[in-house]
Amino acid sequence: MSILKKLNADLTNLVLEAGYEDNVILLPSNRKDLGDYQINNALTLAKTYHKNPMLIAEDIKNVLQTDSRFTNINIAPPGFINLTLSTDFLISVLNEFNNDHFSCIDKKEPKKIIIDYGGANVSKALHVGHLRSANLGEALKRLAKLVGYDCLGDAHLGDYGRPLGLVLLEIKKRYPHLAFFDESYQGDYSEISLPITNADLEEIYPTASLKAKEDEAYLEEARQITFKIQNHDKGYYELWQKVVNISKEAIKKVYDDLNVSFELWLGESDSVSYLSELKDIFTQKNLLKLSDNATIVEVATTEDKAPMPPLLFIKSNNSLSYATTDLATILQRQKEFAPDEIWYCVDLRQNLHFEQVFRAARLSKIVPDSVKLEFIGFGTMNGKDGKPFKTRDGGIMPLKDLIKLINEETLKRLNPDITDDQERTEISKDVAIAALKYADFLAFRSTDYIFEEEKFADLEGKTGPYLLYSTIRMKSLLTKSQTTYQNITTLPTKEERQLAMYILTLPTVIDKSLETKSLNEICEFLYNLTATYNKFYAENKILTEQDTSLKESRLVLTKIVYDLNLLLLDILGIKVPKKM
Ligand code: ARG
Repeated sequence: MSILKKLNADLTNLVLEAGYEDNVILLPSNRKDLGDYQINNALTLAKTYHKNPMLIAEDIKNVLQTDSRFTNINIAPPGFINLTLSTDFLISVLNEFNNDHFSCIDKKEPKKIIIDYGGANVSKALHVGHLRSANLGEALKRLAKLVGYDCLGDAHLGDYGRPLGLVLLEIKKRYPHLAFFDESYQGDYSEISLPITNADLEEIYPTASLKAKEDEAYLEEARQITFKIQNHDKGYYELWQKVVNISKEAIKKVYDDLNVSFELWLGESDSVSYLSELKDIFTQKNLLKLSDNATIVEVATTEDKAPMPPLLFIKSNNSLSYATTDLATILQRQKEFAPDEIWYCVDLRQNLHFEQVFRAARLSKIVPDSVKLEFIGFGTMNGKDGKPFKTRDGGIMPLKDLIKLINEETLKRLNPDITDDQERTEISKDVAIAALKYADFLAFRSTDYIFEEEKFADLEGKTGPYLLYSTIRMKSLLTKSQTTYQNITTLPTKEERQLAMYILTLPTVIDKSLETKSLNEICEFLYNLTATYNKFYAENKILTEQDTSLKESRLVLTKIVYDLNLLLLDILGIKVPKKM
């Protein structure tokens, strides 16, 4: 149990001692002149006990006075209790945190969560639309693991369906003599080398897609190939696998750059083996209906205020729909992993799709009712024109180009004393990712934000580089100290007390982030902690302090803020370089 939780539990008991029963929560004060914290329970208790809140507050104040952790207890009408935590108590909070970070983090009841946050599409470059999913999913996974949940991140590659049929067709047009297309081929497919790189694939798909729009026969041929892949037709299936592997490798590299990794590299195609079982379940439950040659599932209810279209189960051309693949994936996840929850970090604009899928999953009971399915939608990253971010010529911006853009900005701001080119490149990359991620998380998950590379890369203000720079400075101070430092014994300045109070609120920040599935609170916390520390650093002596116990206290405090920054930056998927 975290110190904060224990504090609230003890307060609840003290109030009970005063003769009142209520859940007491210590809140940051609205009137800092009257105390650091306030307790509002007297007001609600007045209703329950039909008693004047000022009298109740007086009773509570009397018991609180018996506890040395609370000082300066005073009452403000109509019954607010203000108080301040004693310096000794704050010192103990810091020392405990220094010994064990979990003194200020609550572990939760274990549960298993699958997080679907990749969604990259094979043979297409990762683009800006995939950025927030990757950032958010990875950070939520790290946060959930921190509190003790068992999490599996799944890349859920878009590796099936028409796009792949198109790619294979275009390869066939360009290299018709490849053995994959030779029905009489008897040899080993693994020996055939494919004259195609990932860069080729990224060009092949848009070319093929354009051709299909203009040429009905081409489109039809692609459909047939899609069908062949889905039916494991030998040559096409082998070629499909090769293409997936080439693409996967390139996709993985971009995710690596973003400091994002997955426990599971499954794709839409992996759910296919569950399709017939899925169909059986839906058929037995009488959920499938024919409509205009397509098979649909009615998911609307009488309570719907807005129209809820039916879920498309099998398209009229007999191919699988995106919804059916997601349903088969739910069935697969249930059978193979039996999770307690599945989280989907996907663009908000896919809200309706997931609403339909979740409803169909409930109707068919492919997962027990107890399994929580959660859509965690995010807003778009926009360009300076306020519209979804595009390249200069209006195309979709590949993620690696976006990283390059921000990298150019961070490189400009790097310390010129770092002269080694390779070192500069490496450091700048870490700083660029920090700039990008911090700005992404600073906006509430569902709000759109504008990509402003200069602002994101700034060394001042609420930015990733500011946090990195400050964190590196803390580290260098600790390295320079060359003394041992173990305990805080004194906490003389306002900033030092403030830092202790921040650390005390850590469980609240973590809970809030897990509840809203947004990292903005953690970003604010990191900024406030760091800015407060920097103010303290600017105004006080540390290394040159003559009073040894004061010096030791300040070094330990520096170490605590440094550790906390590392911990939280790591949750955000941000690496701290050695210098910058
Ligand atoms: N591949 C999809 C896209 O690029 C995203 C997949 C999201 N996850 C899911 N389970 N549907 O739009």
